[in-house]
Amino acid sequence: MATRSPPPLTRRTIAVQALGRIEPATKAVVPPIHVATTYERDPDNRYRAGYAYGRPDNATVRQAEDVLTALEGAEDALLFGSGMSAATAVVMALKPAHIVASQVMYWAFRHWLTSEAPRFGHRVELVDTGDLAALRRAVKPGATKLVWIETPGNPLWGITDIAAAAKIAHDAGARLAVDSTVATPVFTQPLRLGADLVMHSASKYLNGHSDVIAGALATARDDALWARVKALRIQHGLILGPFEAWLLQRGLRTLDARVTTQTASAAVLARRLSRHPAVARVLYPGLRDHPVHVVARRQMRGFGAMLSILVAGGEPAAIAAAAKVRVWKRATSLGGVESLIEHRASVEGPDSPCPANLLRLSVGLEDPDDLYADLDQALRGARRHFQRQTTARKRRA
Ligand SMILES: Cc1ncc(COP(=O)(O)O)c(C=O)c1O
Repeated sequence: MATRSPPPLTRRTIAVQALGRIEPATKAVVPPIHVATTYERDPDNRYRAGYAYGRPDNATVRQAEDVLTALEGAEDALLFGSGMSAATAVVMALKPAHIVASQVMYWAFRHWLTSEAPRFGHRVELVDTGDLAALRRAVKPGATKLVWIETPGNPLWGITDIAAAAKIAHDAGARLAVDSTVATPVFTQPLRLGADLVMHSASKYLNGHSDVIAGALATARDDALWARVKALRIQHGLILGPFEAWLLQRGLRTLDARVTTQTASAAVLARRLSRHPAVARVLYPGLRDHPVHVVARRQMRGFGAMLSILVAGGEPAAIAAAAKVRVWKRATSLGGVESLIEHRASVEGPDSPCPANLLRLSVGLEDPDDLYADLDQALRGARRHFQRQTTARKRRA
């Protein structure tokens, strides 16, 4: 009788078991940390174990890369010392080219693209990649070699249709790279939708505990561009350290449980905050009134745990509300187990498309009732403060 092969494992099981690998020497279910920077050659002058020096490769880093490769349905993955070093490696691996990128994206990479990438001979054009007609107009057949999108896009949480963007890029002879940091492989697998490369700031959800700075790239093909990216990682010494890779792999084991719970809380908060008198608007792709909700529903299995609120009363009211939180932490970054609130315009500066009254919320694993109650008291407190000031001003006038 023919033996049936077992069904393929789900992403959740793959991540929780870190591919189910057992360390052969001790049978440990948790992998060791390989800290060696150098390895003994075999007597016949070869390196049969596959490792020679710590800058090109490391077994602990490889382990975490293998988990990520499986989670993204990729051909291969590479870990870097930060999300920025992963993203910039892609651009530096290209010959001088025309690059089209999302107008609304992680501000520091947008800044690098417009200020530093031209020094490598690139011409960078920023467009609203959520608007496919605008993307089609911006992409120049033969000249554009890279379309870079971030979806959901930080901090307005617009969505770019990955499958449509991939078609536009490919028809013009360009590659599509997707910053999928906020979606995570739990909710979107861009390579399955036609993207060529996926990038993550692994400092965020993949690690999930705000204690590692790391970046990741995953590729659909082991092609010439990927070989260049690999070479640059070696030459520029961009590899992640083994301790960080080990922590990242530990974080990946709970990725599914974390982001699923955090997303459920974000959805509750988005709905409740939409009715709050001190909130002018909630930006969250999971809300039906969000202009990109339909695309988000099509390409995401969940809407993620990031949202932004536009505070009624403008920038001073937003800053005052952020000042009054007790449970939320006033801090930058996102994707950790603790909830963070940030006035983004203060970070991004005058060139940013971020509204001045926007507060970005990274929803953590706390009880959503505690999170809502804290925001409610902060928003109401800030409102009372401004109402008193306005009344006093009117009296004086
Ligand atoms: C969406 C997104 N992409 C990339 C980055 C850059 O990652 P890193 O800080 O790990 O360099 C960040 C960091 O905030 C981010 O939020």
